[in-house]
Amino acid sequence: MTESTLRSHLEKVPVKIFNDRDEGSKLVAREIASLIKEKNKLDKFTVLGLATGGSPLLLYKELIKIHKEEGLSFKRVITFNLDEYYPMKPDDANSYHHFMYENFFSHVDIEPENINIPDGTLSVEKIDNYCRDYDNKIKSLGGLDIQILGIGRTGHIGFNEPGSQSGDETRLVHLNEITIEDAAKGFGGKENVPRSAITMGVKTIMQAERVFLMAWGREKSEVIKAAVEGPVTGELPASFLQNHPDAVIVLDPAAGSHLSRIETPWLAGKCDWTDRMQKKALIWLSGHTKKPILKLTESDYKEWGLNSLLQTGEKAYDLNIEIHNKLQQTITGWPGGKPGSDDKTRPERSEPFPKRVIVFSPHPDDDVISMGGTLIRLAEQGHDVHVAYQTSGNIAVFDDDAYRFMDFVRGISKKMSVCEPEFEKIYQNIAGYLKTHPGNGNGNPDVLTVKGLIRQGEAAAACRFSGVKEENVHFLDLPFYETGSVEKNPVSQADIDIIVDLLREVKPHQIYAAGDLQDPHGTHAVCLHAIFDALKVVKEEAWTRDCWVWLYRGAWQEWDVEDVEMAVPISPDELKKKRMAIFKHQSQKDEPVFPGTDSREFWERAEDRNRETAKLYDSLGLTEYEAIEAFRRYKF
Ligand code: F6R
Repeated sequence: MTESTLRSHLEKVPVKIFNDRDEGSKLVAREIASLIKEKNKLDKFTVLGLATGGSPLLLYKELIKIHKEEGLSFKRVITFNLDEYYPMKPDDANSYHHFMYENFFSHVDIEPENINIPDGTLSVEKIDNYCRDYDNKIKSLGGLDIQILGIGRTGHIGFNEPGSQSGDETRLVHLNEITIEDAAKGFGGKENVPRSAITMGVKTIMQAERVFLMAWGREKSEVIKAAVEGPVTGELPASFLQNHPDAVIVLDPAAGSHLSRIETPWLAGKCDWTDRMQKKALIWLSGHTKKPILKLTESDYKEWGLNSLLQTGEKAYDLNIEIHNKLQQTITGWPGGKPGSDDKTRPERSEPFPKRVIVFSPHPDDDVISMGGTLIRLAEQGHDVHVAYQTSGNIAVFDDDAYRFMDFVRGISKKMSVCEPEFEKIYQNIAGYLKTHPGNGNGNPDVLTVKGLIRQGEAAAACRFSGVKEENVHFLDLPFYETGSVEKNPVSQADIDIIVDLLREVKPHQIYAAGDLQDPHGTHAVCLHAIFDALKVVKEEAWTRDCWVWLYRGAWQEWDVEDVEMAVPISPDELKKKRMAIFKHQSQKDEPVFPGTDSREFWERAEDRNRETAKLYDSLGLTEYEAIEAFRRYKF
């Protein structure tokens, strides 16, 4: 287990950053397991405070594994959950009761009477007494031995939202707007999220013997920095942990990415001046001084704490030029390489030309959203471009659209007198299902097929528009995705085989893939791992020696500039064309089924992001473009 050991004096609570959430969760699981074992031996109860949500999921998985494989018994474990929505019935799929049984309790030998979860069914008058009893019960057991926490984007722990006090005990609270937004996906819309919850208070949490707060992913990085490095304040309740004698913050690199030791290590202590770190420092300095890199002076370096960067004897002027040139050399209008040119300082090889290219797109629209400009350029510049849609994306289509398309096909078949009784049977089945299951059509496999076909049609149209040949469009429909719900199956050999077959058929010189590894259970990361696994299978084959892999950023953020290895400029006209390609995905337009927490449409998010990158390059003193798509190289 490799954990980042460098610690900054700015961190006011111990922080451990692990390679990924799996490693972090395993550490916490081991701590809990050894405490239970120790207490079991002494015939004592272990009292645990538990959280729900995405953060502790892998922890529970690991504890279940330890129970099954190593016989860890939970018979003498008493648990208290942090919170429950109010009002909420325990058998509701969105209740924390349901979550805990589904993800943990049903898989271990805990006694049901030892499980305590706030009751979301009480009448309002009964809540105060109930909460006092909840706290008293914890106290009577000698307090919590270990408390597990996640953190909300508001900085909440439990549901102690901004405005909470250190003396708060268990009580009924109102949820913050941001918390409601974050919960909306599970509830099928913001309007369905309860406005209140019963939560353990900050005081109760702080009285736990030990606390582990786990946070994963970039969305948590800002609030983690504030909680760890900022002042202790009720406006950010997680910051109270700075006053706890034994609290540890457990992070993956993305959640820790805003900590000073990562973002500006030169300010947080000793810094290892690698090439990347020098780039990062100058980009940062340029941002703070609002000067292009070539105008930075020695006194700027000194004033902003970058003395150590010049201690190697290098002059600011020379370093400025070196970094400026390195950044300039990432820019190319020839993402497939410029044929016949000297490619020593270009991001891509000039030969072979044309190249065979596979663009892997996790969902049917990621290709055009994330790298539409580059895709269009590759096709225009004469490369043999293939696009492989990894998943069907079928759950992200409204029932109403499925209905509309069925009506359309029925209309055609009737008008053209090819209406077959078989088709009518399917039509009736689908229409009947949609009528009797409003808003819930994904339970029917035929509905899912129609939805998948709608997305195929849109992707094919976007490819046609972008200049990709029809025979080069591949719908892989990876089986892991086909569950009809947000929860997916694990990737299997069948998924890998499908990708391996395509790689062997095309033998690409270039592969583009969505490089989002932050959420290991998100479809993008699963799809990327499936590509990596497939590459492992073929890696001894001769063609792979001439194959480069480029990662584009699938979500809404772009790569940090210091990590970009190829920056493809997009002209105003190309940006318009990219927008039109995104518009082909009509089922995702206006308001998609899964909009996330961003109110902008997909094309707006893509344009903002590409323009932002161009602006950043411009502000560093590099050429000014309308927009830029950025890539990192992955060496396998
Ligand atoms: C859950 C809880 C909340 C969550 C927090 C993070 O019991 O009390 O504080 O821990 O909202 O949620 P996730 O882990 O889903 O990001």
